[in-house]
Amino acid sequence: MIKKVNSLKGSYKIPIKLGVEMDYNPGYEDETRSFIESGKFDYVIGSIHFIGDWNFDSSKNISGYDKWNADELYEVYFNLVKKAAESKLFDIMGHLDLIKKFDYRPESDITDILKRTVDVIGKSEICVEVNTSGLDRPCKEIYPSKEILKLCYDKNIPITLGSDAHAPQEVGRQFDETVKLIKNIGYKKIARFAGRKRSFVEI
Ligand SMILES: [Fe+2]
Repeated sequence: MIKKVNSLKGSYKIPIKLGVEMDYNPGYEDETRSFIESGKFDYVIGSIHFIGDWNFDSSKNISGYDKWNADELYEVYFNLVKKAAESKLFDIMGHLDLIKKFDYRPESDITDILKRTVDVIGKSEICVEVNTSGLDRPCKEIYPSKEILKLCYDKNIPITLGSDAHAPQEVGRQFDETVKLIKNIGYKKIARFAGRKRSFVEI
């Protein structure tokens, strides 16, 4: 796939970028780094899809949520997000609050957890991905939530915009309303990458 994407670079009027979304697996930082360094990626997204060996992102594994206290689950999840940011392996944190995907919500106010997570992300100099795919999921919200995006804006954390498309018709889904939301928060530009170097484009 990497060869295929690279062979298409320069063949179209639009720029073709080679990106990768990788899981952050605690304890496998060296292996992750060597994979990233083995390819000439334009950008690298780091995401959490697993807690232990539970892929909480899959509807096949939805019964796994019943084994958790929701507050504890959110705390464990955001601890992994913080570790991923601190690893400095990635350019972008993917779908920052994916744990809400199936609309399992915390029972308590988790503002402190969110603030601590955003603090770590700010210090790690990593971008946050605004991902519109959540609008098509049971949670019916973009990732991350407006509340988290406001915290990111206050910490000057740059954002990227993506639709997590797994099919051509999903590319750019619900970008118009999402750009409005981003602008309402205060953002005037979004980040983009080439050769893992960040630049900005006005919105
Ligand atoms: Fe993902």
